Amino acid sequence: MNSSRGSFASQLGVVLASAGSAVGLGNIWRFPMEVGRGGGAAFILIYLGFIFLMAMPVMLSEFVIGRAAHSNAIGAFQKLSPGKPWIAAGIMGVLGGFLVLSFYSVVAGWTLHYTVASALGQLQGQGPVVDGQSTMDFGQAFNSFVSNPWQPLIYVALFMLLTHLVVARGIQHGIERYSKLMMPMLLVIIAFQVCFSLTMPGAAEGIRFLLQPDLNKVTSEVVLGAMGQAFFSLSVGIGCLITYSSYFSKETRLVKSAMNVCIIDTLVAVLSGFIIFPTVFSVGIAPDAGSGLVFITLPNVFLLAFSKMPVVGYLFSLLFYLLLLLAALTSSISMHEICTAFISEHFSASRRKAAAIVTLVCLVLGCFCSLSFGPWRDVTFCGRGFFDLFDFTVTKFLMPLGGFMMTLFVGWYLDRRLVESELTNAGSISVRMMRPLLFLVRWVAPVGILVIFINELFPLFMKS
Ligand code: PFF
Repeated sequence: MNSSRGSFASQLGVVLASAGSAVGLGNIWRFPMEVGRGGGAAFILIYLGFIFLMAMPVMLSEFVIGRAAHSNAIGAFQKLSPGKPWIAAGIMGVLGGFLVLSFYSVVAGWTLHYTVASALGQLQGQGPVVDGQSTMDFGQAFNSFVSNPWQPLIYVALFMLLTHLVVARGIQHGIERYSKLMMPMLLVIIAFQVCFSLTMPGAAEGIRFLLQPDLNKVTSEVVLGAMGQAFFSLSVGIGCLITYSSYFSKETRLVKSAMNVCIIDTLVAVLSGFIIFPTVFSVGIAPDAGSGLVFITLPNVFLLAFSKMPVVGYLFSLLFYLLLLLAALTSSISMHEICTAFISEHFSASRRKAAAIVTLVCLVLGCFCSLSFGPWRDVTFCGRGFFDLFDFTVTKFLMPLGGFMMTLFVGWYLDRRLVESELTNAGSISVRMMRPLLFLVRWVAPVGILVIFINELFPLFMKS
């Protein structure tokens, strides 16, 4: 192993950093939104199927590739299959890393703004009084904020700086240390928020919505959305976990770590549903409010809670946005690391220099994405602004295609003995589910991804 490379110091660090990458805006912002649209529990059941049958095998494949090669996403394919076209999966991964961090930091920047606004009590600012309660037009406030040419850019830059500061410190002193700090905080905040939201009057209806499957709402689009959500949520398909697992030690148990990450990620997503829906239902707002759920609907809920119990309302809103911010940060550092690891290893640059390059490039691209909600609204490619274009390219194209190639690479190309040796730590532990796991990697995941990818992509291209 290349001794100048960093490595995670403990098994806890491995799981918390990988779970930190997985748990992000995807769980707390995007998952409830998709559940709201996709018929509650029906969507959750389909999603669980995709997590364990398709996304988890991709995660395991990335772990095998990364730990076997001890290299960045592109270098790993160069080492394990020199001169072969498999390297395309690594190149797509690094490209995906730049794109995903750029659009992600826009929503993370909004989150930072809402965290500051909650802390300053601005979300409880006075609007007209209706039925004896103060109100604010949060829809208008949100729209005027995101379309402002400057304000959101400042928050994008601040968030990118936070990400940069963690990544520049390296694996143990940066990523591992801050994941170990932030993930427990995040889990404590979630537990607090769930307890609070379950005690809201009328919360039962929200719980029923989450737990009762409404099969009528399940369309093919919902099924396709569930796969995209599963991949995005587990951070698979763009080499993020190849990069992280290249820092695993030879004692790290790959199957167990992958299972733990899948369970933590799913738990956080479902618990976010338990935070959001009971509160939303308790104030009688429609649950399918789309992307505005977190930035428009919830502030209304917080305002209502605030007018009845000021301290609880204040704490609830502040902790919620803090939770979202921590989740975004543990994910953004993993996106940044895909690119930083590649640049520092491939060009033999120092980590600080490599991290600075990635931060600058993503900052510029992030500004493009942010401006696509405001002054650059009309700058479109195939009908999509920068934000939508990057989101589409990563989640609909690079992630499924990358996941498809990685499972084929591990399932069919790599020497079976190498794969088994990685999964069993050179024969020192037994993996009871070896055969079914390999079956998922060789057949279920690639065939499933291919079928869905073709189904999803063709109609989209026909439309645009
Ligand atoms: N899994 C993250 C989330 O759910 O927000 C998003 C993500 C992280 C995607 C890292 C891709 C990635 F490489």
